[in-house]
Parts: sequence; structure tokens; C-alpha cells
Amino acid sequence: MPPSRDRPPPTATTVPVAAVDLVDRPAPSGWLERWLAACADLQELFAHHQLLDAVIQEVAGRRIRVDGRWLTDFASCNYLGLDLDPEVIAAIPGYLQRWGTHPSWSRMLGSPALYQQIETRLTGLLGAEDSLLLPTLTHIHAAVIPILADQGTIFVDARAHKTIWDGCVVARAHGATVVRFPHHDPQTLEELLRRHLKQPRLVCMDGVNSMTGNPPDLPAFTAVARAHDALLYLDDAHGFGVVGERSREEPSPYGRRGNGVVRHLGETYDHVVLTGGFSKAYSSLLAFVAGPTALKRLLKVAAPPYLYSGPSPIASLASALVGLQINDARGDELRAMLYARTRRVLDHLDKLGAATLNTSGFPIVEVPLSDPDDLPRAGRFLLDHGIYATLAFYPGVPRQEVGFRLQLTAANTDTEVTELLAVLDLLADTIPLRPRHP
Ligand SMILES: Cc1ncc(COP(=O)(O)O)c(C=O)c1O
Repeated sequence: MPPSRDRPPPTATTVPVAAVDLVDRPAPSGWLERWLAACADLQELFAHHQLLDAVIQEVAGRRIRVDGRWLTDFASCNYLGLDLDPEVIAAIPGYLQRWGTHPSWSRMLGSPALYQQIETRLTGLLGAEDSLLLPTLTHIHAAVIPILADQGTIFVDARAHKTIWDGCVVARAHGATVVRFPHHDPQTLEELLRRHLKQPRLVCMDGVNSMTGNPPDLPAFTAVARAHDALLYLDDAHGFGVVGERSREEPSPYGRRGNGVVRHLGETYDHVVLTGGFSKAYSSLLAFVAGPTALKRLLKVAAPPYLYSGPSPIASLASALVGLQINDARGDELRAMLYARTRRVLDHLDKLGAATLNTSGFPIVEVPLSDPDDLPRAGRFLLDHGIYATLAFYPGVPRQEVGFRLQLTAANTDTEVTELLAVLDLLADTIPLRPRHP
């Protein structure tokens, strides 16, 4: 994004300190300048925009106070609203009394029994053969992808999450070949599988995509993977806890139990390794790999985050465990609420004739602008009207998708959604949204 002459100079109260350092001072060396130039668009947004790199001073439900101003948070990934759930909050002090705040053993040395309890519950919920908990998905991708890929071939979806790509880069350094295939394109994947035969072969992609909110055609991908003896490695950070197995009694189209995209799309774990996180729907610093018990045994002796990383804090383990209990008791009710609120936003965009990448009805709603250069203005407009959203900036998304992402959670109230819809009306009158049917 070129610097704009008519943009007012940032003031001391609007520019985060880190951004001032980056923008105003000359970089001390060539490599730093090159990095800053590569991230120029984001740097520009950081410098001028309180929707990014914000200091959140206070939280009241889904309202947050940023720089003295109350905003409604539509950027939270706490889909089930468990971060604010009184039952989770009340349970945590008891666990802290029993276990202390943080077990500093790596898992190789020992794990509080909470780990085993969560893994047992989680394995049952997913209907997988086994599962292993590690601190984050970022750790998991960096450690597990290289192990599974060995010196073979990785086929990675062009829109896979950055942390998957980073895992692929580590795998390449260990001797794997990395091949990219077009987003959600099982036919091209199949052609590539016919051409690149070096085993083992791993296909890496998101479950529910973090930017579009859409799942892949899993039956097509699993069929290709099984036919070519490849392993499908899925990151369902945004599906786990939100979507689950289908049933006649389901209270919403998200299905029941929130047991993830594999179950939601009626698939099995044959040739599938599912990874997912508790850091979104379950509001907890914890993530998992689900797959065969033999894989779990291997990861326990080969995966650095099991051998060496610090574990999740007790508060996170407790919130995951209590979260799983709440999921059994009233998760479907929370998901029905989440669906209804998401539906309101999607229907409203439809009424406005505005495009969204979301075709699934899941609670990630990206709204592209007609002109990508309007992004800072759109962000400021949302902020001025009390809405906290995620800015989808280039190169994080393709230029034609530059816009903002709204995420709904079960803790957003209907009143907050009504306010959001009114702001979207005003925004659409001021800054052109990309039309649904150009
Ligand atoms: C699809 C996806 N994968 C992985 C991550 C990283 O998750 P974690 O915080 O568990 O490392 C994110 C978080 O933004 C994500 O959206």
C-alpha cells in the first residue's frame, strides 16, 4: 500500500510504541530493511490503526475497552464463549489449589493426570483411535509434519495456514520434497500424486479454513489420499468445537458434539491424521494430534514439543477439561446460538448484496471490499462505530479478498449482532463492499 499524502500524521495517542519504532526510525541494517519492506502493508496498518496490535484494557462480556473506548468484539475465536463461562471460571481455582499454576516438567518427564483425562475424553469425542496433547498447533505442525513426511513428499494446499507451511519448511530441511496444489482442488492433487511418487506422502490442509470459513470437500480428498496411499493431515483449529457429526436430532446445521470436520462430513480416520486446537472454541492453550496409537507412541519419543517444550498451564488444562464436560452437557445449545447469530450476519450481507467468502454458514465471515486500498478507511469506520473486527490485509489474503473478517461467538448477544448489522448498513453506504454478483 503506497503511503498516502492526505492521511493525517499519526499522533502519540493513536500510534502503538512498537509501530513508532518501526516506522519512524531508520532500520539499522539491510536485512531488517528488507524484512520491513516485505511487511510494509501490515506495518502501515499497525502504525495507523487501533484494530491491530491493540492494548485491550478491560473486558466486559464481548465488549472490550481499547484506548478508553468500548468496542464490541467480533474478532474473538472463542466460538463457544467458554472464556467467559461462569462454570469454567469457577472451576479453575480448585485445580490451581491442587496442581499449582504450572507444571514445569516437559511431558517426556511427566504430565499431571489432567492430560490423561483430557486425552481419554477427547479420543472418545472424536471417535479416533488415540490422541496426544501438545501446547499449540504451531508446535504440532513444526514437529509432526517433518516426522510424518520423513524424506518423502508433502502436498500442501495453497491456502493452508502459515503454521502448516512452516512445518513443511522444516520438513524440507530434513529432506522432504514440498509440492503445492491449488486450494481445495482434489483433481490437481491427484495428478500431482501420480507424478511425485517418493514415499511417504503427506497431504496437508486446513479443515474449516481460517479465512473463508469453509471446509474442504473431505470425501473427495480422503478418496484421493486412500487411492494413492497418502496420509491426509488436517488442521481443524476452526472446526473443532464448532461443527460435528450430523444427526436427525441436531439443533443446528453445525451438527452435534462439535467433534470436528472429519465427523461433520461423515468421514473416518482411515488415512487421516486430525490436528486441532483448544485455543479457539475451548479458550485454552492446548492442541492435539488424533490418529493411530502407534503414531502417538512415535511422537512421544520423536516430537520435540513432547520431549522438551514446557506444558500448558494448569488453568488451560482445567478449562479444556471443564470445557469438554460443558460440551457434553450444553455444547449443542451453544452451537445452536452461534449458528443463529452467524445466520443473521450472513442473511444481512445477502440483503445488502455484499459478497462474503463464507458459503458454509460457519461462524467466520470475511467481507471483501470493492477497493483493497479502502482497507484502512474501512477499519477506521468500524472502530469509530464501536466494532472490533479482524482486518484481512494483503499479503495475508489475495488482493481481491482484502476486507475484514467478522467472527461470531456464543457469547456475542443478539443486541450486539443487531448493532453490527446497523454498522454494516452505514459502512456499505460509505465504503463500497464487493458486490455479491459483480
Ligand atoms: C488454522 C490455524 N492453525 C493453527 C493456528 C495456530 O494455533 P495455535 O495457537 O494453537 O498455535 C491458527 C491460529 O490462528 C489457525 O487459525
